[in-house]
Amino acid sequence: ALNLVEQSKRSAAFAAVDKHVGPSVRVLGVGSGSTVVYAAERLAELKQQNKLHPDLLCVPTSFQSKQLIVDSGLRACDLDDLPELDPSAPGSFASIDVTIDGADEVDSELNAIKGGGGAHLREKLVAAASRRLVLVADYRKNSDVLGEKWTQGVPVEVSPLAWRTIKRQLERLGPRSRAQGAVPTDAAAVAAFELAHPVASLRQAVRKAGPVVTDNGNFILDVCMGKIYDPPAVELLLKMVPGVIEVGIFSAMAAEAWFGNEDGSIACRI
Ligand code: A5P
Repeated sequence: ALNLVEQSKRSAAFAAVDKHVGPSVRVLGVGSGSTVVYAAERLAELKQQNKLHPDLLCVPTSFQSKQLIVDSGLRACDLDDLPELDPSAPGSFASIDVTIDGADEVDSELNAIKGGGGAHLREKLVAAASRRLVLVADYRKNSDVLGEKWTQGVPVEVSPLAWRTIKRQLERLGPRSRAQGAVPTDAAAVAAFELAHPVASLRQAVRKAGPVVTDNGNFILDVCMGKIYDPPAVELLLKMVPGVIEVGIFSAMAAEAWFGNEDGSIACRI
């Protein structure tokens, strides 16, 4: 039997797939992580029952995600290999109908931290090419402010060429607008994030000496910055540091988040 957390991941994933993936969905983005495993389980069931589009293409967001797609009996297709769209069709910029992905934390406005599994570069590429991004998560990730519950830092994929230099530059970022020790009194004075100076650490591999190497051959710096009051501003700030490839803050990208609650119920935030 599944424990409470796993059960809540599963019910959120099943509900989101049932709501969004029917015979009319032709291209589906498949996220990464342990919650998406349950989404794949449901997709495999629907496929068996002939309830999916017969030519459904699934766009993976990581090596793991591609394995999930293949193991579920579905067809994987790289983002860049999707058939070209009719440019006159509405929403033609987005070639993926819907993407279902996990998250490490989701705030009250559907901003998210992702990349706990190191897959956020491809996840963001796929999300940006999707008409609708649907997040699935357990109750531990449901939060008011980013950084409140996910305290391991914002995952930032960086070039291994100069990770130490990039780390130093990230740690130099700070809420310059906030006078030291002063309580901000007006909106303009409120800093984008809580810590005076972020602390970045190179993510280490488990069962291998040395750093995590992403699917794209890069490193990950986890940047602790306390609570994030202004996710779009922080996303931009981090992204502007030379050598940063992608930032695990997804500001206003998700259309919906499904949470499995502790009591077994499901909540959908829109
Ligand atoms: C992968 O890099 C992440 O963005 C995942 O989407 C996120 O870490 C959620 O993973 P879990 O479902 O395992 O918590």
